[in-house]
Amino acid sequence: MDTIIMTIVVFSGISAVLAAILTISDRTVNNYGDVTLTINEDKNYTVKGGTSLLDTLRNEKIFIPSACGGKGTCGYCKVVVLEGGGPVLATEKPLLTKEELDNYTRLSCQCKVKQNIRIEIPEDLFNVKEYAVVVEKMEKLTSTIKKLTFNLGEEEINFKPGQYVQLKAPAYEGNDEEVYRAYSIASSVNDKHTLELLIGYTGGIATTYVHYHLKEGDTAYINGPYGDFYYHEGEGPIVLAGAGTGMAPLISILQYMADNNIMRDTLFFFGARTMEDLFLLDKIKAFEEKLNLKFIPALSREESPEWKGERGRVPQAIEKHIEDGSNYSAYLCGSPAMIDSIVEALVKKNVPPDKIYYDKF
Ligand code: FES
Repeated sequence: MDTIIMTIVVFSGISAVLAAILTISDRTVNNYGDVTLTINEDKNYTVKGGTSLLDTLRNEKIFIPSACGGKGTCGYCKVVVLEGGGPVLATEKPLLTKEELDNYTRLSCQCKVKQNIRIEIPEDLFNVKEYAVVVEKMEKLTSTIKKLTFNLGEEEINFKPGQYVQLKAPAYEGNDEEVYRAYSIASSVNDKHTLELLIGYTGGIATTYVHYHLKEGDTAYINGPYGDFYYHEGEGPIVLAGAGTGMAPLISILQYMADNNIMRDTLFFFGARTMEDLFLLDKIKAFEEKLNLKFIPALSREESPEWKGERGRVPQAIEKHIEDGSNYSAYLCGSPAMIDSIVEALVKKNVPPDKIYYDKF
C-alpha cells in the first residue's frame, strides 16, 4: 500500500514539475515582445507579438472583414503581407488563389504576428469604425427572420447602398466564444444614426445570440461598413434578385433610388418557399408606387391556389420576364448556389457579366 501511495506522490510531483517547465517555456518561447507593424508603407504601430494579424489590427481599431470570426473559413480577412508574415499555412491555401499567393495575400486571421511585419490594406478600411449601438426595435418578419433597428446615438455611419456591417456576438450561456458575423444593411444611407439589419435564425452562435439573448434596450457592437457590393450609378434597366435575408441590401438600394428619384426600370425577383416566407410587402408596394419597379416573387413550394404569382425558382422567372438583357445591370444577394444559377440565367439573356454585381453569403 505504502509503495502505491509513494508511486502516486512521485508521479504527481513529476507531472507538476513538467507542467511548470512547459508553462515557463511557453511564456519564454512565445514571448515575441513588441514588434513594428507597418501599414501601406507610411503608418507604423508598435504592437505586442503573439496574436493573429486580424486581432492585432483590431486592437489598433483597424477592422478587417472577418465573417467567420477568425476560423479560416470565410476568406474575407485577406490582406497583403509584404514582409514578416512567415510561411503560408495549410489552413490558408484552400481560400487563396494562385494569383493571390503570388501577390503575397494572406488570411489575416491565420497569419500570426511574431516579428516586424509590413502589410498593405485598402485605404477604405481606415474609415471602418466600431460602434456601440442600442437595440431600438426587434420585429419578427417571418418564423425565422427578425428585423433589428439599432440606434447609433451621436455617432454617424457613412455607407453605400448594398454594403454590410459586422455584428459582434459576445460569449453567452452555452457559448464561450466571441464572434463577428456579417449582415447587409437594409436601411437608408441618408439615415446616418440608425442601422437596420435582417437576421435569420440558423442555429449558429451569432443568430442564436440575436434571436434568443439580445433584447430591445441592450447595447451591441457593430463595425463597418464593408464590401464592394453596392449600387452603381448608370442608365438602363436593373434586375434585383435575392432570397431570405438577401433582401436587406436590395431594400437599401431601392430606398436610395426612391430618395434620389432614380426611375430606371427595375425588376425585383425574390425567391421564397411559400407565401408565409414573404415579408416587407408594404414597403415594397410603396417602392412600386414611387419607382418604375415590378416585384416578382417566385415561390418554390406554395400549394395554395390563392397564389397567383410565379411558381418555381428565380431563374425560371427571369427566363419568363426578360427578353433581352443586353443593357441591364443586376444586383444579387443570396446563397452561392442561388447566385450561380441566377448569374447563368442572366447571362443567357445577354446581361453583360461585368454588370452583374453580387454578394454571396
Ligand atoms: S476571418 Fe474568416 S477566413 Fe479569416
